[in-house]
Amino acid sequence: MDLTIPRIAIVGANGYGLHHRHDIEARRQAGKVELAALCDTAEIIEDDQIPIGDAAVFDDYERMLAETDPHIVVIATPPPTHLPIASAAMRHGSDVYLEKPPVASLEEYRRLYEVMTETGRAVQVGFQALGSHAINALRDALDAGKLGRLEAVGVAGSWQRPDSYYRRSPWAGKRELNGAPVADGALANPFAHASQQALAIAGDWPLDGSIELERLRCRSEIEVDDTAVWRGRNKGGVSVTVAVTLCGERKLEGDVWVKGSEGEAWLEYPTDRLLLPGEDEPKQYGRTNLLDNLVHHRQRGVGLISGLRRSKTFTGVLERVLSDPMPRLVDPAHVERIGDDPVSVLSGADTAVERAARSASLFSELDLPWA
Ligand SMILES: NC(=O)c1ccc[n+]([C@@H]2O[C@H](COP(=O)([O-])OP(=O)(O)OC[C@H]3O[C@@H](n4cnc5c(N)ncnc54)[C@H](O)[C@@H]3O)[C@@H](O)[C@H]2O)c1
Repeated sequence: MDLTIPRIAIVGANGYGLHHRHDIEARRQAGKVELAALCDTAEIIEDDQIPIGDAAVFDDYERMLAETDPHIVVIATPPPTHLPIASAAMRHGSDVYLEKPPVASLEEYRRLYEVMTETGRAVQVGFQALGSHAINALRDALDAGKLGRLEAVGVAGSWQRPDSYYRRSPWAGKRELNGAPVADGALANPFAHASQQALAIAGDWPLDGSIELERLRCRSEIEVDDTAVWRGRNKGGVSVTVAVTLCGERKLEGDVWVKGSEGEAWLEYPTDRLLLPGEDEPKQYGRTNLLDNLVHHRQRGVGLISGLRRSKTFTGVLERVLSDPMPRLVDPAHVERIGDDPVSVLSGADTAVERAARSASLFSELDLPWA
């Protein structure tokens, strides 16, 4: 047991780092952690809700590590910077909370894993939905035989993103920046959780062979998918399908259909609602926060929920997505542009992702006018 109150540093303090600063501030106020340092290459956003306080401010993470010696480094910078920053932090002796996607290829994964084992540090990957207690309840139901033999997991997500979303950062909507692949696009970024969740629910098995993949874009100015589906089968024999769009008319938060030989369950992964066979209403579950889990791992040896090893299969899927050519541009006749900061709505995309997920189909198998 090491009940030292951990001193935490953040690299990438704006952007999604703001969310981490809120999380850390709540825990700092409760006396559970200290905020040691903030590091960002841009000017750090000030906000009374998340005061910088006594924390040291840096624009260089190497200096930050040397001068503040943090126990935990939260890394919320763009994906191409994850491997060097996480490696430096671990070599310095810090545990790491690394935002998803941890890395963009299996080679980078191998290098990061090597640093982790060599240094003996912990890497928690920011797939926060893995902390859902709904997953545990679903696992219990599967173990108790309530669904029979697990056969298929399908996820459907249908969201919208306005034009300004693709101007949010220099890497938004891009395939690569300065020669490095950047992980944007519906599958690689906002719906990364959908793939990781599907793989976890299907039993955390590696995939058996490669995936089938169809990627489309409804905007000519982006180089990545905004509508996509992949399908694979894991070594436990479970079929996995992930179908997502950022051009959906109707919102589907992230619906997971879990099909067994004797019953079906439904889970909404972003909200932790779960409907098991024989129940009338979905039940609301809670979540273990992954930063708390990492702190408890350090202090009391509690198992990591989203340790790096759990992201390996996801990284293989991501590598496949990122090495795919630029997605096919959908005929504008099927796309409606709506609003002042326009969203692109692809006709029937919401229904298509739902059908794909529920029937383990690719878009090309669904008789869609645009696929
Ligand atoms: N878990 C989630 O649900 C979730 C949600 C959104 C984003 N993310 C992830 O968080 C990460 C950051 O995403 P974002 O949209 O905030 O990106 P971003 O491009 O806005 O960058 C975040 C910050 O990092 C800073 N930065 C860039 N390079 C740096 C460096 N070398 N040293 C220090 N600071 C640096 C930038 O100035 C910026 O303030 C990505 O991996 C993204 O996928 C996760």
